[in-house]
Amino acid sequence: MNTQSEISILPAHVAIIMDGNGRWAKLRGEPRNKGHRQGVKSVKNIVKTCISKGVSTLTLFAFSSENWKRPRTEVSLLMELFLTALGSELRELDKNGVRLRFIGDRSDIPAKVQRAMENAEIQTTDNQNLTLVIAVSYGGQWDIKQAVQQLARRIEAGELTADEINERHIADNLSTVEIPPPDLFIRTGGERRISNFLLWQLAYTELYFTDTLWPDFDDQAFSEALDDYAKRQRRYGMTPEQTQAKQVSHA
Ligand code: IPE
Ligand code: IPE
Ligand code: MG
Repeated sequence: MNTQSEISILPAHVAIIMDGNGRWAKLRGEPRNKGHRQGVKSVKNIVKTCISKGVSTLTLFAFSSENWKRPRTEVSLLMELFLTALGSELRELDKNGVRLRFIGDRSDIPAKVQRAMENAEIQTTDNQNLTLVIAVSYGGQWDIKQAVQQLARRIEAGELTADEINERHIADNLSTVEIPPPDLFIRTGGERRISNFLLWQLAYTELYFTDTLWPDFDDQAFSEALDDYAKRQRRYGMTPEQTQAKQVSHA
């Protein structure tokens, strides 16, 4: 059982760039696809761990806008893997109270995968233990672009003026609408970059990078990330003293 102080420093929303599957396989002399399949095991484990720890939202970067540039065979293997994993895990996810939500440009995704995504969202819509957001065919720039398009249409329709647009309007038109921004961002696989993940939403997220490859990212590695997060002081532009005073008044 968590103590009160532990609960208050647990991130409510964790967002992960699951990187390093290909290198994990290469190290073993295996094809890249083996790494992706092993990566699904890490996903299953992290979802369970988030539920048991009480993390309320987990966002996973599964396939980026740029990943379409990979060899055709790898792209189709990833889509197939995605479909089979969804097929085999949906019942268990639903049973465990996981609400699924997909973000990204669905127009490029094969129709059968799109259907599976829609069905999974509908089936799990009332679940409340964990919101699992999966970013597929997702790019932060795409997300901002489509939000701008929606706002521009409202301006064209005379419902809004350019000067009225504020940060709220933008956030409300991003694909993550109604999902609070991530508290903790984790990137596995050693690279120190955002790779077009959640650009707007990461404005004040705590960033954590680890060399651990995604298929090796286990509970121990996740605990290390959570412990690191717990030591951070989130200041949101204020001074350390102001932040402390605020924390005390909220305690
Ligand atoms: C991340 O692992 C999974 C996807 C991008 C789909 P990679 O496939 O990028 O693995 P590395 O970075 O080549 O090791
Ligand atoms: C980011 O990983 C995308 C996902 C993990 C889905 P990449 O492996 O595609 O990132 P880059 O290309 O090395 O920046
Ligand atoms: Mg990679």
